[in-house]
Amino acid sequence: MRDLKEIVSILEKNYKKINLRRINSWMNKSGEHYKLLACIVKHIKPKIIIELGSGKEAFSSTVIANYCNGDQIIYSFDIIHNLAHLNKENLIYSTDDIVENIDKYQYILLNAEFIFIDTEHTGDQETQIMRSLFPLLRKNTLLMFDDIHLNQAMKNFWNGLDKHFYLDKQDITPLGHWSGTGVALKK
Ligand SMILES: C[S@@+](CC[C@H](N)C(=O)[O-])C[C@H]1O[C@@H](n2cnc3c(N)ncnc32)[C@H](O)[C@@H]1O
Repeated sequence: MRDLKEIVSILEKNYKKINLRRINSWMNKSGEHYKLLACIVKHIKPKIIIELGSGKEAFSSTVIANYCNGDQIIYSFDIIHNLAHLNKENLIYSTDDIVENIDKYQYILLNAEFIFIDTEHTGDQETQIMRSLFPLLRKNTLLMFDDIHLNQAMKNFWNGLDKHFYLDKQDITPLGHWSGTGVALKK
């Protein structure tokens, strides 16, 4: 099993080789988190991927699905945007409040290897998600948080993360979103 340092070093080594121009040229820019997501899917190879917060345009799940091979699958959730009509073999959208109803998805979460958390960015919501999500996860589940520097509440959430949950964390904003990207590995 790889530790977080090894994972980040694989990402640093391979990040520049990812080219998203064929999907969407602006996604390829540094300062966005899409190359990093593609790099995780391609080089860390998580089999079961979960995204909390699909977004209206489904940008991140589209990138992830494009990089998934036959063994990998992504489940993406959003409270508002119903994208179920875009479901594909390795990409499943569900419309639900993931804060209120996380227990319904225990059967997927128990086997998740990578979870991308990109919802409201209020800090409180992320804490609530982590409180209900974290006990369901197995050891070595990789987590990625978007917007960890977006506002003071998110900074507080990120700074306190390893005090409240048994995990290793690393800020990898230079590889991710200008607004702050962090990764964590459940111990
Ligand atoms: C910033 S967008 C996601 C962007 C997308 N991940 C990307 O990188 O392209 C945040 C999304 O989280 C969704 N969201 C907010 N609260 C949620 C909740 N409780 N459950 C599920 N989705 C939620 C919002 O509806 C919004 O579409």
